[in-house]
Amino acid sequence: MANRKARVAVNGYGVIGKRVADAVALQDDMVLAGVADVSHDYRVRVAAERGYRIYASMPTMRYSMEEAGLPIAGTLDDLMREVDIVVDCTPKGVGSANKEQYERAGVKAIWQGGERHHLAGLSFVAQINYAEALNQRYARVVSCNTTAVCRVIGALQQRGWVKRARVVLMRRGTDPWESHQNGMINTAIPETRVPSHQGPDAQTVLRGLDITTMAGAGPYDLSHLHYAMVETTRKVSVDELRNALWETPRVAFVNASDGLVALNSVIELMRDLLRPRNDMWEVAVWEDALAADDRELYITFQVHNEAVSIPENIDCIRALTGLETDPTRSIQKTDEAMGIVKSFLPTTWKETDRQATLKEAIGSMRSRFMEEGFKGSEEPTEAEPTGA
Ligand SMILES: NC(=O)c1ccc[n+]([C@@H]2O[C@H](COP(=O)([O-])OP(=O)(O)OC[C@H]3O[C@@H](n4cnc5c(N)ncnc54)[C@H](O)[C@@H]3O)[C@@H](O)[C@H]2O)c1
Repeated sequence: MANRKARVAVNGYGVIGKRVADAVALQDDMVLAGVADVSHDYRVRVAAERGYRIYASMPTMRYSMEEAGLPIAGTLDDLMREVDIVVDCTPKGVGSANKEQYERAGVKAIWQGGERHHLAGLSFVAQINYAEALNQRYARVVSCNTTAVCRVIGALQQRGWVKRARVVLMRRGTDPWESHQNGMINTAIPETRVPSHQGPDAQTVLRGLDITTMAGAGPYDLSHLHYAMVETTRKVSVDELRNALWETPRVAFVNASDGLVALNSVIELMRDLLRPRNDMWEVAVWEDALAADDRELYITFQVHNEAVSIPENIDCIRALTGLETDPTRSIQKTDEAMGIVKSFLPTTWKETDRQATLKEAIGSMRSRFMEEGFKGSEEPTEAEPTGA
């Protein structure tokens, strides 16, 4: 698809769909051909305000949508004729029923984490398995929780550090737009199934990872909070961990010492940064809560469920349509277009300088270690890295 723009449809304009649509509209190698839904409430009306073409996902809903004053450009079948790919953002379980329609129309499709892995046969997190998705017909962008686990634990797995991972997920009770009708108050609900589904789900992306997750939900709607305990294959220092996470795309540090002490303060930071809808596309790792001992690493992170998987959808569009073969280039392009950063407050935090110094210190520590090991031995003095 060199020099061509991917023509994209978004089916389901809710929490995820409206964000995917806005993110597609920001890319210079994609065109948002239209959005489809069955509702005519205020959320879909905003699509009209944005100038997006609106389609009725079900022909039977077209009349009521038009009656309500929405400018309907056609049905989902009409929209399918205009596009290369559809991003299905309909509610959990609805997406699978749409597969036949996409198949008939001959379009590629991306589903969200509410659908099962086998629907697409490929579960996607850009920094882990972009190459596998190249030119494929279908993929599923994993859920917010699984995306975050894959980014953070995947960074450690790629370095060969993970013996076994344990993650405890404290999920948000509901999404803000529907907190008047769902959610809980003054309680927390533990999931009684162990492992919770996010561990096995992460294994569809991070193959061979030994991971168990436990989950529960609490009376807040801002984000999820995760605690990871990772048993390592060797002793890993906090500095090595910090450096690994710094080098991982879409993971950014926050510090309690800066007043970022809770889910609400991190979201307040997103508000102050004038992020659209307060979105935090990065996984926020508490840098001052990172810890290590001889056997394990300990990581605390915040996952903005409404936003974290949006950039993955953009990269997934590029991979499936073959717009970009290089994962790093796609990730960088998406990040630049959306404003995804490594450092939330680069003017005062000076993280880039600090992390560069840290990397240098880790590098010289490693080479001292190798020199020591090779002293008087038969091996060459310049060590070659091995898979092990
Ligand atoms: N909300 C989250 O935090 C979150 C995070 C990551 C992934 N996901 C996943 O994303 C998917 C969408 O979730 P959501 O939270 O955006 O849901 P949502 O309820 O906010 O939005 C769904 C939209 O689809 C529309 N819709 C309903 N039936 C339809 C149909 N037959 N055809 C077309 N549109 C239809 C609804 O009117 C609504 O606008 C699910 O798979 C979910 O598991 C959700």
